[in-house]
Amino acid sequence: MSEFVLKLSNIVKTFPGVLANDHVDFALFKGEVHALLGENGAGKTTLMNITYGIYKPDSGDMYIDDEKVDITSPHRAMEYGIGMIQQHFSLVPSFSVSENIALGLNEFKLFPKIDMIKKRVKALSEKFGLDVNPNSRIWQLSAGEQQRVEILKLLYMNSKIMILDEPTAILTPQEAENLFKTIREMLKYGASVIFISHKLKEVLEISDRITVMRHGKVAGTIMKDEADEKMLAKKMVGRDVILRIPKNPAHPQKSKLKIKKLWSKGDEGSYAVQGIDLDVKTGEILGIAGVAGNGQRELAEAIYGLRKYTGEVEIDGSKIQPLDVKKRIKKNVAYIPQDRKSVALCGNLPAYYNLFLKIFRSKKFDFNPYLFKPFSLKKSAEKLVKEYQISTSSVNLSVKYLSGGNMQKIVLARELSVDPELIIAVHPTRGLDVGAMEFVYKTLLDARDKGAAVLLIAGDLEEIFTLSDRVAVIYEGKIMGFSEPDESRLEEIGLMMAGIKKEGVEQK
Ligand SMILES: Nc1ncnc2c1ncn2[C@@H]1O[C@H](COP(=O)(O)OP(=O)(O)OP(=O)(O)O)[C@@H](O)[C@H]1O
Ligand SMILES: [Mg+2]
Repeated sequence: MSEFVLKLSNIVKTFPGVLANDHVDFALFKGEVHALLGENGAGKTTLMNITYGIYKPDSGDMYIDDEKVDITSPHRAMEYGIGMIQQHFSLVPSFSVSENIALGLNEFKLFPKIDMIKKRVKALSEKFGLDVNPNSRIWQLSAGEQQRVEILKLLYMNSKIMILDEPTAILTPQEAENLFKTIREMLKYGASVIFISHKLKEVLEISDRITVMRHGKVAGTIMKDEADEKMLAKKMVGRDVILRIPKNPAHPQKSKLKIKKLWSKGDEGSYAVQGIDLDVKTGEILGIAGVAGNGQRELAEAIYGLRKYTGEVEIDGSKIQPLDVKKRIKKNVAYIPQDRKSVALCGNLPAYYNLFLKIFRSKKFDFNPYLFKPFSLKKSAEKLVKEYQISTSSVNLSVKYLSGGNMQKIVLARELSVDPELIIAVHPTRGLDVGAMEFVYKTLLDARDKGAAVLLIAGDLEEIFTLSDRVAVIYEGKIMGFSEPDESRLEEIGLMMAGIKKEGVEQK
């Protein structure tokens, strides 16, 4: 028997105007975690979609163990023991956990034995430490829990080759640690894993070997022990990347966003935001640290007018009504939501349209008929595509065909390119490669230096520390306290994130 469980040889895949995979060779050894790294748009997801039978390669061969195989659909892939968690989840929100698992089964039946499935799901979740209630509906679950359902699906199907496409992008560091525990557990049971991530630390922690892709080609495969963050970053983007951006001291001026006694309900009907007071000044970045699911999303949505609330939101000293997004756009507020695909983008519309969706409502462009001319829009879009280094074959391409990171860049370009005065950014660098991340950090700091007020919500403390001038910690919908963005305050921040309050905290 050969040493590899999966081998891809000379894979070529083109889309109109793009060579997404350019003669790619890739081998997965039995029992290894093999990380796949590369810039946004490098071709990682495409290569894995080919492996999983979603796309057909233009040319190239695929082997499982020693056998040459022709994988023409995910169904066939599953028969060969290949399972994949997609970059954007594929669960049905209104179905329960067990129903979703039933849907994915190979021997799909019109009347699946849900009780039997439930039993097995329970046994598997205990064995692999994946705590989730089989009766819960998907929409009720946090991102971390949904991730566990996706993994349970793979385990249920006895997948031996597991493809995880950016599984940690939406996870908190603690959840990522749990995922790694599960991965190690799966290896014991004979699985081999392909792991895609932009987080270099994680890649160095979990993988045995690392393959870097660049512009559709393999730039090299390295043993983990021979790699470090700096060289991986360089190999990915072809230049040195500053992983820690230096920042000038902030000069906060007047109050821009004031929130008073804000209460807002989550989707399940209980209060996710419980009486928050905040004051964000022009020229500063206030970071909100916290474990995901403690009201961050609801807080951002309430401020931007997407969710009902009681209490007050003031911009520039004047009160603004709940649910009035138009007003906020007029006040030049930028919003980068947690979920780019369902909140910030229209997948079927071309990239250039998505880049200007909001401008029609803004102060500057209201009722300017010139802007409705597609030609001028496209020209401006092309400029933005260049500036934000969005990899797309054309501004006419529907955004649903862009790579995950490039979708995120479209949102960032639209929101940040119009000199916003107030920026509400939730996980702004989710899914971005290290080069793009550096660019976004610089853009946000630039906006701050030009006088914008920034409310940054992020799960990653490193991101909070890199960008923020002040840190507020949220726990169960309340602000537990404020701190400095400094490594030395890590313990204090960690305690507040766990709900342990600092003595004498001022709620300001
Ligand atoms: N169905 C499609 N139609 C047209 N172009 C596509 C399609 N799928 C992918 N592409 C293009 O192929 C290229 C590679 O995309 P891919 O999604 O594989 O990148 P990636 O390495 O996964 O990036 P990311 O890190 O951002 O997820 C991109 O330029 C993308 O726009
Ligand atoms: Mg991808």
